[in-house]
Amino acid sequence: MTATQGGSPAQASPVVAQVAYHDGEFMPLERALLPVTTQALQYGTGVFEGIRAYAQDDGSLAIFRAHDHYRRLLRSSRTLRIDPGRSVEELCELTAELLRRIGTTEDTYIRPLAYKRALLPGQKPGVSLSGVSDALSLNAFRMGSYTDPAGIRCTISSWRRPTSDTLPVRAKVTGGYVNNALAVDEARAAGCDDAILLNSRGQVAEASTSNVFAVIGGRLVTPPVTADLLEGITRDTVVTLAADLLQTETDFRDMGRDELAGAEEVFLTGTGTEIVPVTELAGRPVAEGTPGSLTTALMRAYQDVVRGREPNYRHWLHHVHA
Ligand SMILES: Cc1ncc(COP(=O)(O)O)c(C=O)c1O
Repeated sequence: MTATQGGSPAQASPVVAQVAYHDGEFMPLERALLPVTTQALQYGTGVFEGIRAYAQDDGSLAIFRAHDHYRRLLRSSRTLRIDPGRSVEELCELTAELLRRIGTTEDTYIRPLAYKRALLPGQKPGVSLSGVSDALSLNAFRMGSYTDPAGIRCTISSWRRPTSDTLPVRAKVTGGYVNNALAVDEARAAGCDDAILLNSRGQVAEASTSNVFAVIGGRLVTPPVTADLLEGITRDTVVTLAADLLQTETDFRDMGRDELAGAEEVFLTGTGTEIVPVTELAGRPVAEGTPGSLTTALMRAYQDVVRGREPNYRHWLHHVHA
């Protein structure tokens, strides 16, 4: 996606903070290394999250929907028989401590990773989930908004989203992201910013690291979880804000690519992406080729909420006290 002047200062390439949590302790990032024999590296048997912490107007820092991200991490972990050894509450506190040690109050992206490490003594070699040790690492880097608020160009990928009987698509599994990487690679080779993937039934699933919304006939529409998508936390935030602040209910229903192409508005939602208008789809403009009014209103509302300006949603903010 294009680096731009978003809701906060643009940073084309993130600045890496010099502290990580690894092997049960905080350490300089350059020491947070793994052997090439790591099972997750060889077989893709890891699960992860992408979380943002936002600078608040009073100069403090708050992690957005930390509990929900860690609830999903623990759900994903169970799918791969990984035990990160920490509760949701402990993971939130560990993250806050990492940010304190980094010492930043600027917008930050946090990457927790729970993974399979090494065969336990006496275990037979091979691809396995049990009989393998588990590990947890966290790193974070300063990162502002990086998508273009004026809109991005998407392809419809020739890669299909895997079905839930091929991969646990509702878990954020590292190995599954080969599919997403191939889709992005194809989109960029075609001069676009991102790819929208259809599922095995030919219905819209999601974008490479975001969920898809459209305004069709004046209604806000997003594919249901049964469309083989990752149930995004930003997706849930948008559904909530649309209903509470903009009196707009969301229809959860299947959408074909032709319906998406004829929509009045299309936008993507994700922790990294935040909310970004799609102004061109498969080589054609979406409506007039400019961000739509509902998309723009949601983008504004989202920035107000993540920065603590909306009292009704402050329970979504986990403060990183100095
Ligand atoms: C495949 C995929 N879909 C959707 C999303 C959006 O999820 P969230 O809003 O929780 O970041 C992400 C990002 O985590 C993703 O990787």
